[in-house]
Amino acid sequence: MAGRVIAIDGPAASGKSSVARSVASTLGFLFVSSGHFYRALAWGTVIESIPDEALNDWLMSRHLGVEEKENSISLLLDGKDATSHLSDPEVAAKVSQIASFPCMRDFVNSRLHALAEERDLVMEGRDIGSVVFPDTPWKFYLDASPEERARRRAREGDVDPIAERDRLDSTRVTAPLVIPEGSDVIDTTRMTLEQVVDVVISRLGNLQPSNP
Ligand code: C5P
Repeated sequence: MAGRVIAIDGPAASGKSSVARSVASTLGFLFVSSGHFYRALAWGTVIESIPDEALNDWLMSRHLGVEEKENSISLLLDGKDATSHLSDPEVAAKVSQIASFPCMRDFVNSRLHALAEERDLVMEGRDIGSVVFPDTPWKFYLDASPEERARRRAREGDVDPIAERDRLDSTRVTAPLVIPEGSDVIDTTRMTLEQVVDVVISRLGNLQPSNP
């Protein structure tokens, strides 16, 4: 990996996205949600009604394009912008099941590794510090109580089965959600976004911002 990667893992609605986005903007790094890759693919399987047994073949002829926008990226599945579909209820209901397939994980991981060849990244997900970039020295694991996480998701107005996703994400065989070895664990239950960002930035020490 040529660029630097700050890995932020944790369960759904633990604050990863907002924190990662803000840290990325402070340092001039690119913000990447690895969950968006799984969601874009889940969206494709929903609209094309792909059965599990056909996933491997289906993936082989998929093109998942990455378009950089300001400090973040948009995903194009076979040329179609997936952005407005990432939180569709059908996608939220299917994504964790889709993400449990090794072929899906290999497909996504190769794209995540390619991004790190080009840019400094703040990447959030479930297995970034444990599997995708285990050697990065900057690893964080954010958590919050299940009640607080459910409250946060309800405030965003999303229909999202987070308890079921947590169960699937933590119990799957390939790359389950774990606290990565060597990560800094932050319980965000009683913290504001700004407080969490301050803690992360302070623990990054003298990590230099990206060159413009
Ligand atoms: O982070 P987000 O909620 O968008 O992730 C959606 C789903 O994608 C997760 O519940 C999980 O099943 C899957 N995922 C994963 N590994 C990652 C990121 C997301 O399995 N690194």
